[in-house]
Amino acid sequence: MLVHAIPASPTYEFAADVRAGLTKPGQKELPSKYLYDEVGSALFEVISRLPEYGLTRADERLLRRHADEIVDRVPGPVAVAELGSGSGKKTRWVLEALCRRQRTSYYPVEISRSALAMCERELSDIDAVTVVGFEREYLDGLLEVAACRKPGQHLFVLFLGSTIGNFDRPAGAEFLGEVRRILQTGDSLLLGADLEKPAAQLRAAYDDELGVTAAFNLNLLARANRELDADFDLSQFAHVATINARARSVEMHLQSRRRQTVSIPVAEVVVEFFEGETIWTESCHKYSAEEIVRTARNAGFACAAQWIDDQWPFAENLLIAQ
Ligand code: TRP
Repeated sequence: MLVHAIPASPTYEFAADVRAGLTKPGQKELPSKYLYDEVGSALFEVISRLPEYGLTRADERLLRRHADEIVDRVPGPVAVAELGSGSGKKTRWVLEALCRRQRTSYYPVEISRSALAMCERELSDIDAVTVVGFEREYLDGLLEVAACRKPGQHLFVLFLGSTIGNFDRPAGAEFLGEVRRILQTGDSLLLGADLEKPAAQLRAAYDDELGVTAAFNLNLLARANRELDADFDLSQFAHVATINARARSVEMHLQSRRRQTVSIPVAEVVVEFFEGETIWTESCHKYSAEEIVRTARNAGFACAAQWIDDQWPFAENLLIAQ
């Protein structure tokens, strides 16, 4: 696979973001994109197989069952761009369905080099697909993909797995608007979104019995130890998932079990934690099915079809740029 890599130093960027997030007045935070190094990506693969975490399986089930119907409604010929490809496992169903109709260029846009490599291994056996990876942030990558489009070719963008839920609602709406501005009329976007569900089900999904999600979240601190020479004592931080009823989200935090000081030499910072203080790492917002359609419409998309899983409330939404 050809990969367009990020030229800037990733360690420098990680160090700068860690310093900014942990010295911020009030709620400390770390950007969730750093959860997905090699260890984190592997742990997330395990999460997606846990009985408590039905999200990825629902997403995959919908794509497997409805790939032909989805592809039939996509105006073509198309090139496919995927924002956050992950392992690429779910994407196979869509690409295989498309390949029954046309040769397909597939452009995964991913900040995780290990996820890009996994995705290439997973999909390289589909004959009529050419994979060109972009190691980029979503919108930067999408801009580059859009610049490569051939005359008469539409873009079909995949944004699966409910990553949209990691933005708060206004930012999610804004992001869809940004995507729309990069696209042309008649281009399409397949958007996955996790739907609202009972609190107990959410709590279990984000704080599983085996502790894999806890390990996944704590790996952010372990990564700072590995890459920034930090001295986080992982046994002194706890994974906490709380339901924010007002925001309709699950918030992920790492909570300091005691008063402590952590030094992070590569980020040139020493950070104090009080007992019970948390680092916010990610929020996962849950939507209603109608809300997605409305949000998409406000961003300049018409919802051509919506598929909802019968076992785990999750929606696949096919949106056409107007
Ligand atoms: N963002 C994903 C989600 O909404 C991934 C995820 C699952 C996650 N468990 C997590 C992110 C725990 C941070 C912490 O489901």
